Amino acid sequence: MSELIRISNLRKTYDGKRYVLDGLDFSINKGEIATILGASGCGKSTFLNIVGLLDNFTDGKYLFSETEINPKKLNSYYQYRATDIGFIFQAYCLIDSLSVKDNILMPFLYSGAGITGSVKEAVDALLDSFDMLNLKNKRVSLLSGGERQRVAIIRAIIKKPKLIIADEPTGNLDESNTQLVVKAFRNIAENGTAVIVVTHNKYLSLGMGRTYSLKGGRLYNE
Ligand SMILES: Nc1ncnc2c1ncn2[C@@H]1O[C@H](COP(=O)(O)OP(=O)(O)OP(=O)(O)O)[C@@H](O)[C@H]1O
Ligand SMILES: [Mg+2]
Repeated sequence: MSELIRISNLRKTYDGKRYVLDGLDFSINKGEIATILGASGCGKSTFLNIVGLLDNFTDGKYLFSETEINPKKLNSYYQYRATDIGFIFQAYCLIDSLSVKDNILMPFLYSGAGITGSVKEAVDALLDSFDMLNLKNKRVSLLSGGERQRVAIIRAIIKKPKLIIADEPTGNLDESNTQLVVKAFRNIAENGTAVIVVTHNKYLSLGMGRTYSLKGGRLYNE
């Protein structure tokens, strides 16, 4: 079985009173794309943070790569975050003072993996596929919002993680760049990575794996 994640009866409260997630079930296989839609404030980022082992959950069961996650021990999953999960956040979380290339190579510094010749070639190939090769040595502080977003996407893809988590990845992109992102996600999924995308963009949710909506703390098939 090629299941990467299985979540059952997940519950999350921040204040001990209101449950933002309330009995949520979800699973995703390797190489699958899941798109999650839902109103602002319904808990999409909360869900992604839990799946990405960045935030704890209150109740329920979470299996990542056959490991049962203990929400009280998130620190011990450092290696998963460093090598197995690629994040594309709503706010890009790039380092403004570094160049495009150095931002993209950041995951290799965190995980301790060396920056080999083939990594450098992969950076160039990805930059080229996102029409960004000419910006390789430019400082991120000088880029537009859409360009930053593409850098964040490349940074998440470059380490070939088991899972990509993307929170509104096309929020700042025009139609043609949205197409590039869709293509890149399809491509990485075909190579075995699972992708979970949160979006308001109906266009992004078309033709890419399964689509869910998050309502009342649970996920429903669209
Ligand atoms: N750190 C936090 N502490 C307390 N409450 C929080 C925290 N983070 C989120 N919330 C609350 O949980 C609910 C869900 O927030 P979340 O950010 O997950 O929504 P979202 O679906 O991602 O919204 P958007 O589409 O606007 O990004 C909101 O009511 C929010 O106020
Ligand atoms: Mg959000």
